[in-house]
Amino acid sequence: MANQLFATKPLDLLLRESVDTGHGLKRALSATDLTMLGVGAIIGAGIFVLTGQAAAQHAGPAVVLSFVAAAIACVFAGLCYAEMASMIPIAGSAYTYSYATMGELLAWIIGWDLILEYSLGASTVAVGWSGTLVSMLNDMGIHIPPQFTSGPWTEVTLADGTKTFGAVNIPAILIVAVITTVLVLGIRESANVNTTIVFVKIGVVIAFIVAGVRFINPANWSPFVPPNTGRFESFGWTGVLTGAGVVFFAYIGFDAVSTAAQEAKNPREDMPKGILGSLLLCTVLYILVAGVLTGIVPYQKLNVPAPITEGINATGIYWMRYVINVGALAGLSSVMLVMMLGQPRIFWSMAGDGLLPPVFTKVHPRFRTPYITTILTGIAVAIAAGLFPISVLGHLVSIGTLFAFILVCAGVWVLRHMRPDVSRPFRAPFISVVAPAGIITCFLLMYGLPVETWERLTIWMALGLAIYFFYSRRHSRIGNAHKNA
Ligand code: ALA
Repeated sequence: MANQLFATKPLDLLLRESVDTGHGLKRALSATDLTMLGVGAIIGAGIFVLTGQAAAQHAGPAVVLSFVAAAIACVFAGLCYAEMASMIPIAGSAYTYSYATMGELLAWIIGWDLILEYSLGASTVAVGWSGTLVSMLNDMGIHIPPQFTSGPWTEVTLADGTKTFGAVNIPAILIVAVITTVLVLGIRESANVNTTIVFVKIGVVIAFIVAGVRFINPANWSPFVPPNTGRFESFGWTGVLTGAGVVFFAYIGFDAVSTAAQEAKNPREDMPKGILGSLLLCTVLYILVAGVLTGIVPYQKLNVPAPITEGINATGIYWMRYVINVGALAGLSSVMLVMMLGQPRIFWSMAGDGLLPPVFTKVHPRFRTPYITTILTGIAVAIAAGLFPISVLGHLVSIGTLFAFILVCAGVWVLRHMRPDVSRPFRAPFISVVAPAGIITCFLLMYGLPVETWERLTIWMALGLAIYFFYSRRHSRIGNAHKNA
């Protein structure tokens, strides 16, 4: 049995599968296209929503430093992702990389963990989408009763001033339903639509920076690192660390570039350019947004569903709120689309290996989409989005993704020693520094996240292990081949 837990999927088999299952993908994407793809997946609820919470609850104006710290961890992980993607260009992402390097059990753990990144990530963005919509409708004088825009663990204030708890977040559920339908029907975003949305997103972010910079009151930046309140995650340098774990969410998505390795014209040069280029662009924009936002609004006031709107209100340029909100709604939808497109691909890979039931590989006869997994994913995403607050979801996504990044960094390192012979179109430089630095920085960000988030991760992982031992281990193709050998 121990043998099976550490059985790896042979690299050569994987490389063959990458050719066999290549659905005739065209090598059409340039470095710029890949960068745009990354930016499309990256800019979302993190910057539009979580920045405000990270500043108000954890880091104050030093949320700027939280963004720098999270970017550093992402650069190390990004280099490792680029090497893996160029070496094993196949759907399944970190799950596939782990199966090839560290064995079945760890591959399962990572596949299970990626559900947090992709499905729960989509739920988080859906809650951000709902908050942005509600804020925009409020500005227009349309008020949806707050019980129907928040889940049962969120306190809401009714029109008459009484405080109660929400019931269910209906706008979040509706947007998930729309995106699921689009994905089942197979109307994929064409490259042009994606590029348009990316330009809108970047435009909105730059417009905010340009409009806001004249209204900065340096007094709002003082103290830059507010003193710690006695709790690890509330302000001070430990608060900056917690803030980094929270805003790490804003960078998630650059790893999605790695899944397009088979479609890149020149993966050797363009994969790292796409991954690191999109990261760099977003890092610069994020730092500027965080600096401007905390410069125009006292950080204590930023714990709201649409902090950027709060910033625009402070400038008095009210018409801009609508532009920003519409841009944000479009931008958040595209992030959800990418995440909910990615999840069934991962399930597909896991089911193909026998770790999930074969029904997960079923394709709709007419639409040619993995409709069962897409609908199941949609239902799960909608339930989480309908019930839970954005902070709980976002923290869990961050911790889960950081864990995946650690395993990818470890996997690249292990493979350099185990399989030095395999062709690597892109090699991460100074791997014996970059891989451990990635592992350490990602762990530090995990460490900064609240204890409850660790508890939730542990429960999730325990559930995953139970499924592995009761189902997946018995049905594993590689495992069964081992037994019969
Ligand atoms: N980085 C993506 C976002 O912030 C997940 O929405």
